[in-house]
Amino acid sequence: MLYFVIKALHILSDFLLIGGMLINAFVIGMVPPAIRVGVIAALRRYDRTVTTAALGGAWLFGLWLIFGYIGFSDGWLHAKLLLVILLSALHGMQQGWMRRMQADPKLDPPAFVRAGMPIILVSVVLIVALAVIKPF
Ligand code: HEM
Repeated sequence: MLYFVIKALHILSDFLLIGGMLINAFVIGMVPPAIRVGVIAALRRYDRTVTTAALGGAWLFGLWLIFGYIGFSDGWLHAKLLLVILLSALHGMQQGWMRRMQADPKLDPPAFVRAGMPIILVSVVLIVALAVIKPF
């Protein structure tokens, strides 16, 4: 029973994380500088509470599933963790650039941060395929 509760909390955290990162990516990459100032202020509050907590939950419950139940030997998990580390790094860069862009809305972040939307969408497809299908 506990295994399924932990996995449910893991997947709930993943939903909130990906949802929050997609909003960050939209505002950073697609909202014109003229209107993104007020938007970024509100978004940073949401990001600091919900999205950051969700990232913590994804890691906490994911590692609980590893150390409590399935171990660390499967290839799919290694590939998945590489993608999740990439997403975690992207989230950190999103936070850093939203802070800078709130101070100076004309600032443009580097290409990796501006391309957040496709990076997140492709990563989610690969992560969910690896986690559910477990191909190797
Ligand atoms: C943050 C670090 C993460 C770790 C350490 C981790 C680890 C794990 C582990 C060990 C499982 C259990 C597999 C099983 O019992 O069959 C699992 C399941 C799952 N994870 Fe993650 N995960 C992480 C992040 C994510 C993210 C970001 C997503 C989605 C974007 C995700 C999606 C899933 C899904 C959909 C399952 C259920 C697979 C199934 O039941 O068939 N995980 N994860």
